[in-house]
Amino acid sequence: MSGPSLRKQDAHTSIHESALNEAKELRALLNKCLKEEQIEKALKVTEVTIEHWESRTLQHAESEEEGLYKEMAEEKPYLRQLITQLTRDHDLMRRIVEQMRNLLIQDEIDYRMISLLDSLIIVDSIHNEDEMNKLLTKNESYDKKVMEKGEDIA
Ligand SMILES: [Fe+2]
Ligand SMILES: [Fe+2]
Repeated sequence: MSGPSLRKQDAHTSIHESALNEAKELRALLNKCLKEEQIEKALKVTEVTIEHWESRTLQHAESEEEGLYKEMAEEKPYLRQLITQLTRDHDLMRRIVEQMRNLLIQDEIDYRMISLLDSLIIVDSIHNEDEMNKLLTKNESYDKKVMEKGEDIA
């Protein structure tokens, strides 16, 4: 989904929520495998989990950066600092997923994966809140006030 559909708060929120809910389920499943010392299964769940983050949240981030963020920065220049911060959130998530992939390549499937997944979930939750409440706010009078004052709302 890209372009105008990402501007709709409801449609955009449901993309966030379905990806995050699946991510939480996968995290719980991996935790269970580690607890029960099911090494082979833990390995498979880790592969699926990394693919999940890459194909859903990171892919979504990329389409935002190519479309929505560029358009918003053009339309509302005072949002540029916020957009830089949101892009940094994406970068952090990319780097955490990369760390997970490195552990997987080295066959090191342990509780470090759970810590990385918890970090991803926290960063993503905060990021999603900011996209909705700061980037896609429908509060036009606030937009106007900020534009008049020339402030940055980040
Ligand atoms: Fe995003
Ligand atoms: Fe988003």
